[in-house]
Amino acid sequence: MSTYIHGTHPEEQERLSLLNTLINDRCISLLDITTGERIIDFGSGLGQFTMRMGILTGPGGYCLGIEQDSAQLAKARKNLADSGLTQVDYRQGNVEDISLGDEEGSFDLAHARFILEHVNHPEKVVQAMRQAVKPGGKVLLLDDDHDTMRLFPEPAGFKRLWTAYMQSYEALGNDPVVGRKLVSLLHHAGLSRIQNGVVFFGDCAGMKTFQVYANNLLGILEGSRDLMLNKNLIAQNEYTAGIKGIEEWSTLPDAALWYSINWASGERI
Ligand SMILES: C[S@@+](CC[C@H](N)C(=O)[O-])C[C@H]1O[C@@H](n2cnc3c(N)ncnc32)[C@H](O)[C@@H]1O
Repeated sequence: MSTYIHGTHPEEQERLSLLNTLINDRCISLLDITTGERIIDFGSGLGQFTMRMGILTGPGGYCLGIEQDSAQLAKARKNLADSGLTQVDYRQGNVEDISLGDEEGSFDLAHARFILEHVNHPEKVVQAMRQAVKPGGKVLLLDDDHDTMRLFPEPAGFKRLWTAYMQSYEALGNDPVVGRKLVSLLHHAGLSRIQNGVVFFGDCAGMKTFQVYANNLLGILEGSRDLMLNKNLIAQNEYTAGIKGIEEWSTLPDAALWYSINWASGERI
């Protein structure tokens, strides 16, 4: 099983949950869900976006989230119980090695956001997504190309720290730039009518959500600190200097974060 770099401790769950509130409106606008559809969400995490999609299918639809981690599933199931939605369900499973049995080929949409970057074999996941949808069904991937992160004015020590962070993905056998490969992954899995685009994931000083973006950045870096240090990807003093640089940058009146989430979709014909 692949290792999830961010972990699932309560502070990390809080970060992921806040991240969902920042981007879910932008991501849902990529979808054209009609009532009664069947959707499968690969790597559903805390399930906030799974539920958003489930609401659009209506009570006559079905939205199934697949998640490997028990702590994420527990939180997702609690959120689901609180919501009262009956058309959403979660199942424990590894998206790199999944068997859908009779449900194979029965879904209208297979969706995966921020999951291909956390697995050793993204091609296996995309192949399973293709198998999950019926002819005419759609596969939608959203994922990171970490190499596109830009902060300005660039904080002292940031480049060094961000490079080590990307290397920590590689240390786990995962791909920090998988976002640029989404079209290729769909093509090689046999999907047709492929499209692509980006969802803006940036902000600047003065905007009311700016500090949430800055804290998200600090949160992912702090969460990977032990891995970076233990694998000798960065020295402690360089790590500390990079974090201090971001903290100082986040107080500047002209601080800006430029980043986007890559997406690509394809159809099974
Ligand atoms: C960054 S979160 C994204 C969650 C959700 N898709 C979202 O956008 O909010 C990635 C999730 O994938 C899960 N995950 C990682 N590898 C997995 C695998 N091989 N099978 C199933 N889930 C996996 C992690 O436990 C984590 O909850």
